[in-house]
Amino acid sequence: MCGRQLLYKHDGKRQGNDTRLLVTIFVCLVGGVLVCVGFWHIAGTHTNAVYVTVLTKKVLQIVDEKFLSLGLDSSKICDGWVNRNIRSEKLVKLANMLSPGYLRVGGTLADRLVFVPDSDTRYSSLEEDLKEKCTPQNTSFFNMSASDWIGLNEFAQNAQLHLLFDLNVLLRTDSQWNDSNARVLLNFSDKRDYIINWQLGNEPNAFRHVFGISVPGETLGHDFNNLRELLDEYPRYKKSILIGPDVTRPVQRVSLEESPTLYLSEFLKVANSSINAISWHQYYVNGRKAKLSDFVKPHVLNILSWQISAIKASMSGVTLPMWLSETSSAYGGGAPKLSDRFVAGFMWLDKLGLAARMGVSVVIRQSLIGGNYALLDDLMNPLPDWWLSVLYKQLVGRGVLEVLGATEHVRIYSHCSRHENAVTLFGMNLSNLPSLITVSGLPTTSRVLTYILTCDVFSRLNMCCSMKRDCNLTQTDLCHHFNHKLRTLQNL
Ligand SMILES: *[C@@H]1O[C@H](CO)[C@@H](O)[C@H](O)[C@H]1NC(C)=O
Ligand SMILES: *[C@@H]1O[C@H](CO)[C@@H](O)[C@H](O)[C@H]1NC(C)=O
Ligand SMILES: *[C@@H]1O[C@H](CO)[C@@H](O)[C@H](O)[C@H]1NC(C)=O
Ligand SMILES: *[C@@H]1O[C@H](CO)[C@@H](O)[C@H](O)[C@H]1NC(C)=O
Ligand SMILES: *[C@@H]1O[C@H](CO)[C@@H](O)[C@H](O)[C@H]1NC(C)=O
Ligand SMILES: *[C@@H]1O[C@H](CO)[C@@H](O)[C@H](O)[C@H]1NC(C)=O
Ligand SMILES: *[C@@H]1O[C@H](CO)[C@@H](O)[C@H](O)[C@H]1NC(C)=O
Repeated sequence: MCGRQLLYKHDGKRQGNDTRLLVTIFVCLVGGVLVCVGFWHIAGTHTNAVYVTVLTKKVLQIVDEKFLSLGLDSSKICDGWVNRNIRSEKLVKLANMLSPGYLRVGGTLADRLVFVPDSDTRYSSLEEDLKEKCTPQNTSFFNMSASDWIGLNEFAQNAQLHLLFDLNVLLRTDSQWNDSNARVLLNFSDKRDYIINWQLGNEPNAFRHVFGISVPGETLGHDFNNLRELLDEYPRYKKSILIGPDVTRPVQRVSLEESPTLYLSEFLKVANSSINAISWHQYYVNGRKAKLSDFVKPHVLNILSWQISAIKASMSGVTLPMWLSETSSAYGGGAPKLSDRFVAGFMWLDKLGLAARMGVSVVIRQSLIGGNYALLDDLMNPLPDWWLSVLYKQLVGRGVLEVLGATEHVRIYSHCSRHENAVTLFGMNLSNLPSLITVSGLPTTSRVLTYILTCDVFSRLNMCCSMKRDCNLTQTDLCHHFNHKLRTLQNL
């Protein structure tokens, strides 16, 4: 009904040499009531008509305020990147635009890290040395200095992010976690009033494959109970969030790892009352083998759906929030020339939509910087997924709404808007045909704000100007706000 009243045409002008694909966010902003009709492109004779209905009466899920969060790999401490860059003002500004969020510092190298406050670490500038030092194949420990730790904490504070730090679970004595280094870190942090949330270990079900060591789920559960007791000794950390066990993604075929779902259920039998959320890692594909088409195939994007279901099924009776504590497009550091391009936005936006829809509370993007899947390049300039994340933060609120009628190829999600009395719809076109989307279920309104993001799939530049172009469809406060922030950034 409302569809006929409010159609906005997108002129479909193309930039670059391949704009077959679109990521679109369209938004309805209202005063009191609302309607939204999204319109991608109308051209040619064959049109894929999609009719979706948004059910606004009931909120299906409420995600964490910090739903979209950021990861920083522990290898960035090891290789001296933190030492050299964490105090950059530009980095603080860019990260701050993604607040509120967690800053998770973890990864394979978390289980190699020892906190040595007075260590005087000299970082080699030779890439060869770092490659030997900061890889999982190197089983020797490395030191995190006081300066690194202070830098990380101050960075998180200045960017208004909440630090989530992954402690080393491979400091062990007689097959038990040895907490003596954690005590040093806690004492140091407590004296400086640092607010921190915690993890213990990284992908423990793959320890045998990565480090040649096995820590069974039940044993890890006892280690977590010990950590909870240790945190309870500090009034400041008694209420800290502790999440675990950070198992790897469920896979369909048996692999080098122990099954993450079996591992998780063994762990939960022991540690369910010590943790605040169940955490696991998720990637769609192998970064070394990924192809362009993987990023836009519905059956690849749907992998996440059965993975979430598999993890839920192994929670047997435990009702804790679920976090994707490390997640990105492709594992092994991301896919070169794909995971940092415009096309990566399809996986990222679909993940944000699907995870929230299925009840995941927090999604931690690997990574803010470092690897092919980073949000910022090595010079700390924003990549397309950073822009997408900023837009998401500005527009998408915590309440998840049901959308009926979306298809495998025209994927649409809906949340309450970040701003009051509004609904946000976002989605993407993976279809080979131009798609006309008609949205119903929303009462009539006079204000609709639309953002259409479209680009050469291989673009590595700032999100294309189409976003700004559509901003003048309706001049609203939100739009001004976003433009203002963009201008601020250009002055960095
Ligand atoms: C780590 O610190 C300890 C104690 O200061 C020192 O003995 C050791 O050599 C350091 N290790 C590395 C790899 O720098
Ligand atoms: C492991 O890293 C240390 C520095 O932390 C380095 O001295 C050593 O050569 C590396 N070992 C291997 C096998 O690469
Ligand atoms: C834990 O490790 C520390 C340092 O390596 C060691 O001094 C201590 O004896 C260990 N604790 C236990 C209970 O073995
Ligand atoms: C941590 O602080 C407590 C209380 O001040 C002290 O008893 C303990 O020895 C300290 N532990 C370490 C490892 O520094
Ligand atoms: C939760 O942990 C307790 C021990 O703390 C255990 O007795 C109980 O069976 C666990 N619940 C589930 C559903 O695993
Ligand atoms: C959706 O993408 C296809 C190519 O994948 C393109 O031909 C079509 O025009 C797009 N639809 C819209 C509405 O832009
Ligand atoms: C956007 O602004 C330009 C320049 O002011 C104007 O020509 C154009 O019609 C506007 N577009 C819309 C949809 O209002």
